[in-house]
Amino acid sequence: MNGAGYERGRVMNVSPAVTAFRAAFGHDPEVAWHAPGRVNVIGEHTDYNDGFVLPFALGLGVIAVAARAANGLLRARSMQYPADAIELEPTDLRPGKVTGWVSYPAGVLWQLRRVGLPVEGIELLLDGALPSGAGQSSSAAVECAVGMAVNELFGLALDRIQVADAARRAESDFVGMPCGLMDQYASLLCTEGSALFLDTRSGKTEQIPLDFAAADTALLVVDTASPHRLVTGQYAARRRDCEQAARALGVAALRDVTEDELAGLLPRLDQASWRARVRHVVTENARVLRAVALLRRGCVADIGPLLTASHVSLRDDYQVSSPEQDSAVRAALDAGAFGARMIGGGFGGSVIALVAAGRQAEVTDAVATSDVISATGAGLPTPICTSVRPSAGARRLEINATGADGGT
Ligand code: GLA
Repeated sequence: MNGAGYERGRVMNVSPAVTAFRAAFGHDPEVAWHAPGRVNVIGEHTDYNDGFVLPFALGLGVIAVAARAANGLLRARSMQYPADAIELEPTDLRPGKVTGWVSYPAGVLWQLRRVGLPVEGIELLLDGALPSGAGQSSSAAVECAVGMAVNELFGLALDRIQVADAARRAESDFVGMPCGLMDQYASLLCTEGSALFLDTRSGKTEQIPLDFAAADTALLVVDTASPHRLVTGQYAARRRDCEQAARALGVAALRDVTEDELAGLLPRLDQASWRARVRHVVTENARVLRAVALLRRGCVADIGPLLTASHVSLRDDYQVSSPEQDSAVRAALDAGAFGARMIGGGFGGSVIALVAAGRQAEVTDAVATSDVISATGAGLPTPICTSVRPSAGARRLEINATGADGGT
C-alpha cells in the first residue's frame, strides 16, 4: 500500500521518518515501530479455512513514528504519499468513510476503540519500503506497525497476538478485505532465522529454523511488478466458495477434510469450481505439513517440488494466479530452480523461487526476459528479484536526538 514515492529495494532507517514527523507536526515523535512484510513459504489460501501456513518475515516493512494528539484527531502523513495530509475527526472513523492508504491506520484505531480501549488522538507518520500490491503484505505491515505504536503510546498492554487480531479485524471489518490471519501473525510473531508454522485453527505456532545459505540454497522473491487485479472481490468469492463447500460437505471448515477422503467426498459437490477449490485447500494443507517435516530435517532443497505443486494447484484449481506469475514461475523452473510459486492472495504480485546457491543471477535473468513478462511489461518496471531470508518480526526503534537509530 505504498504509493508513488515507493523506492524499490531501499534499506530502511528511522531517521527520515523522524525528520519528516518533526517537519509535519513541529515536535518530536514519542515512539517508533517497524513491522515487516512477509513471504509465505507454503500454505496459500488455507488461513481462512482453519488450515496451516508457513510464512517468514522480510527485512523490509513499514516504519510508524507517532505521538499522542489532542481532541481524538488522527493526523497522518505518509512519505510515499507526500501530497496527502490527512486529518480525521473521531466521527470519521467508521467503515466506508475512509479510503486509500489511511484506511489501514484508521482501521486499527477504530478497532481498538471499538473494543473499549482508551485510544485517543494520534499524530502519525508512515514510511514504507514494500511494494504495494505485490503480495508481500504491505497493508498488514502498516496495521501492525501502527498497532504496536498505539499499544505503547496509550499503555494498552496488549500482547502481540492481541495486536495481530486487532490488525486483522481492522483489515476485514474496516478496510473491507475479508483476509485470514496469516499476514498480521507473520508480521508480529516471526523471528529471525525461522519460518512461522501456524495452525490457524488452534493458533498454535512453532518457529521452524530455516537457513537457506547453510543448505546451499537461496530464496528469490520476484516482484513481477504486475499489480493485483480485482483482488478483494475475487478473494471474497474464493472464501465464500470454501465456506459453502464446507457446509455442503458437513464439516466446520475445509481443514477437516483429509487428502485420503478427497476422492470419496468430491463427487458430493455438484459445482466443478467447488470441487477444484476444495482440492486446492486440502492438498495445500498436506503440502505445508510435508514441507515442515522436510525443513525439520534440514532438507531445504527438497521442498522445491512442493512449492511448484502449490503453484499448479493455485493456478489450475484455485485460479488465483496471473499470466505474469505463471510466466515467472515457468522461467525460474526452466532456469533450474528447485521449485517456484506465486505467493499471497494472487491475481498479480510476487513469486518465490528456491534456487541453488550461486544460481541467483541466471534465474533472475530468465525471469526478467520470460515471455509474458517481456510481452506485457511495456510501461512496467523490470521485475525485481531479491534474495531474502527470515528476518525479525515487528520491533521497537530507538529515536535519539538526531533521529538516527538502529533500524535495518
Ligand atoms: C492474503 C490474505 C491472507 C491469506 C493470503 C493467501 O495475503 O491477507 O490472509 O489468505 O492472501 O494465502
